[in-house]
Formats: sequence, structure tokens, C-alpha cells
Amino acid sequence: MRIVVYDQGGARVEIGDVAGQTLMSAIRDKGLNITAQCGGCAACATCHVYVDDEWTSKLKPVGDVEDAMLDIAEERQENSRLSCQVKRTEDLDGLTVRLAPGSGF
Ligand code: FES
Repeated sequence: MRIVVYDQGGARVEIGDVAGQTLMSAIRDKGLNITAQCGGCAACATCHVYVDDEWTSKLKPVGDVEDAMLDIAEERQENSRLSCQVKRTEDLDGLTVRLAPGSGF
């Protein structure tokens, strides 16, 4: 499985052989600029990403807690997700996201 991440500066990074259990952990373990301050508890919104349009419908819907946290995220959009709430699954091979403003340190 691989994922494609565009960082806050627009640089494209492909992460192959993803090891983490969530999208956030895969991005963090690759060393990209993501704060993920709460460690994946859906309590900080510093793992905010924008999901490319072709992938938004393939993800599980936003849960109530995630939705509440996204409300405090910087520049929320229709395709906003907390990357710590996106589980890594084989059917998401090629998933493409962009790190949102406020997600880096
Ligand atoms: S890491 Fe804190 S909300 Fe995702």
C-alpha cells in the first residue's frame, strides 16, 4: 500500500510500504511536518489534512468527535479530515492528501 502526501509547501512525497495504523502515523513516521500533538486521540486537530476529491467518498464518514475537532481546525474545507482518524486499509492504496495549514510545526 502506498499513499501520496503533499506537504504545506506543495512538495509531493510518496510513502510506500506504509507501516503505521493510521494515515497520521504513516505521515509522522515518514518524518513529514505534522504536529499531531495529541498522538492520535482526536483532541488537537494538528493532524488536519485535505483529502483529494477522488478519495473523499472512499473514506469512512467523519465521526462526531472528529467533526467537532475539525470545527476548530484552521481553514476547514469540505474535504477536511483528521489524519489520525483515517485507518490504513488496502482499499486506500494510492490515497492522496495535502497537509493543511496549522498541521505543521
Ligand atoms: S493527532 Fe491530534 S487530532 Fe489527530
